[in-house]
Amino acid sequence: MQEKLARIKEEALAKLNAAGTMDTLNEIRLAYLGKKGELTEVLKGMRDVAPEDRPKVGEWVNSTRKAIEERLASAQKEIAEKALEARLKAETVDVTLPAKLPEIGHRHPNTLALEELERVFIGMGYEVVEGPEVEYDYYNFEALNIPANHPAKDEQDTFYVNDKILLRTQTSPVQVRVMEKTKPPIRIVAPGRVFRSDDVDATHSPCFNQVEGLVIDKNITFADLKGTLAQFAREMFGQETKVKFRPHHFPFTEPSAEMDVSCFKCGGKGCRMCKGSGWIEILGCGMVHPKVLKMSGIDPEEYSGFAFGIGLERITLLKYEIDDMRLLYENDERFLKQF
Ligand code: DAH
Repeated sequence: MQEKLARIKEEALAKLNAAGTMDTLNEIRLAYLGKKGELTEVLKGMRDVAPEDRPKVGEWVNSTRKAIEERLASAQKEIAEKALEARLKAETVDVTLPAKLPEIGHRHPNTLALEELERVFIGMGYEVVEGPEVEYDYYNFEALNIPANHPAKDEQDTFYVNDKILLRTQTSPVQVRVMEKTKPPIRIVAPGRVFRSDDVDATHSPCFNQVEGLVIDKNITFADLKGTLAQFAREMFGQETKVKFRPHHFPFTEPSAEMDVSCFKCGGKGCRMCKGSGWIEILGCGMVHPKVLKMSGIDPEEYSGFAFGIGLERITLLKYEIDDMRLLYENDERFLKQF
């Protein structure tokens, strides 16, 4: 019996020493210590042992069991440690490598130009307001002295929600909304998106941005309009900038004009930027039509005012010398990164 136990022990320990994985250890444990294991079989044979020999035999069995269990435990520990070491080696992180930088965006050139424009007007005491992009036909046309059959309505064809509601073609309706609600003095700029059913090309887009301006007070004259817009042009394009007003027609202003600035690239001599003329057109403007004042609830006998409309993209393109408006909308990082 003692011999048998010694053989079992030797065999078991040799197998444990050779084992390389937890699975093998488990198999060995079952083979010797399990319910049908070799050692368990020996224990079952105890009943054939003479009663006086039983304590001794019991002791041998127990010490054999203990030896196997101890070696099993240490083998498990060794294998677990080796596995951990291997994992740590495989998963090393080189903390000296440069970190991945998060990609941080920045403001769009249109936004940069708008912020500068707003800064200029806020400096002159203007408030920045906004109006809805989905607008009533009444505010977009009627109240601006553009009745149903006016040809201006054809030029500004847009997207209709129904026959009373449309996507605004200009920011001018914000003038009316402000006048209806506010008692003069009024001094506002209203930036925002406008829509027209135009095809996309280098200078057109079905959706673009305008900035509307409106001033209403007592004794406002064309001289105020000129002084204000000349100041705006100098701050926006440089102190040496000159302005020129050409007569024009807008239904909601009388008289109306378009304003040109002297070319800030060539100083007025004529270059590619100004197409050789020395001047660049940047906005439409005029004295608010008495009919428009009256329709908005302001007495034209008591108050007068001027208004202007600036195409924001035009300012952006000029400021950053970009030759194609489409670049502003394509969201190509290689382009946008430059600003
Ligand atoms: N709303 C005009 C347009 O889209 C621009 C404009 C011209 C606005 C003259 C004005 C203005 O306020 O006085 O063509």
